[in-house]
Amino acid sequence: MNWDERYQAGETPWEKGAPAPPLIEWLRKRGALEGEVLVPGCGHGHDVRAIAAASPKSTVVGIDISATALKEALRYSSVGREVFQSADIFALPQSLQCRFDWVFEHTCFCAIQPEQRLNYVKMAVSALKPEGQLLAIFFLNPWDPEDEIPEGGGPPFGVTKAELENLFHPHFSLIEEFKPTTAFPGREGREIVRLLRKIRVGVSA
Ligand SMILES: C[S@@+](CC[C@H](N)C(=O)[O-])C[C@H]1O[C@@H](n2cnc3c(N)ncnc32)[C@H](O)[C@@H]1O
Repeated sequence: MNWDERYQAGETPWEKGAPAPPLIEWLRKRGALEGEVLVPGCGHGHDVRAIAAASPKSTVVGIDISATALKEALRYSSVGREVFQSADIFALPQSLQCRFDWVFEHTCFCAIQPEQRLNYVKMAVSALKPEGQLLAIFFLNPWDPEDEIPEGGGPPFGVTKAELENLFHPHFSLIEEFKPTTAFPGREGREIVRLLRKIRVGVSA
C-alpha cells in the first residue's frame, strides 16, 4: 500500500488531529520561526498550521506526496501564511530549492526507507538557504518491547543518535539537542529534538 492508498483507506495511525506536542513546546518557549519554512511530509498539515499561527510573518510551505492528505489539509481554515503543495521530497522542484530559512521535520524522516535517509539529508540541504536551520523531532524508537515489528522493521523506522550524527554532521552543525517534556501518548521518552544549522560550503564545522 502506498502513502495515498493509506490515507484513502484511513490507515493512518500517525494522524493525531493535532500538532506535535514538542513543536508546541518549542513555539511557546522560543516564538516564531522567522522567514520561510518548509515542512516535508506534512500530512494533514497540523504542524504547518501551528507554525503559521505562531509565525504570522512567515510563509510556511507544507509538502506531501499524497494528494488525499493534501486535500484534507486544505479543508482547514487558513490561520496564517501557510500553503500546501504536492511534491516528492526526493525530487524537490527548483522553486523549493535554496529558499528556506527553516525546515521542520516531524515523522517524515522515520517514514522513509532507511536507505533513503542520505537523500533526505540532501533534500534538507538543497531546500535551505546558506546557514538555514533544520528543527527536527526525531523518533528514536517507535516500538514497545511487546510489539510485533513488521517485516523490514517499519515504517516507522527508528534511528540512533550515532546514525543521526553520521548522516547530518557532514552538512550541519548541531546547535542544540534536548528531550522534549511533552509528547503524544505512547511517544514519551522516544523522541529527541535537534536544532541543526546548515554549514556554509567551504566552511568546516
Ligand atoms: C508518517 S506520515 C506523517 C505525516 C505528518 N508529518 C504527521 O505527523 O501527521 C509520513 C508522511 O510523509 C509523506 N511522504 C512519504 N514519502 C514522501 C515523499 N517522498 N515525498 C513527500 N511526502 C512523502 C506521506 O504521504 C505521509 O503524509
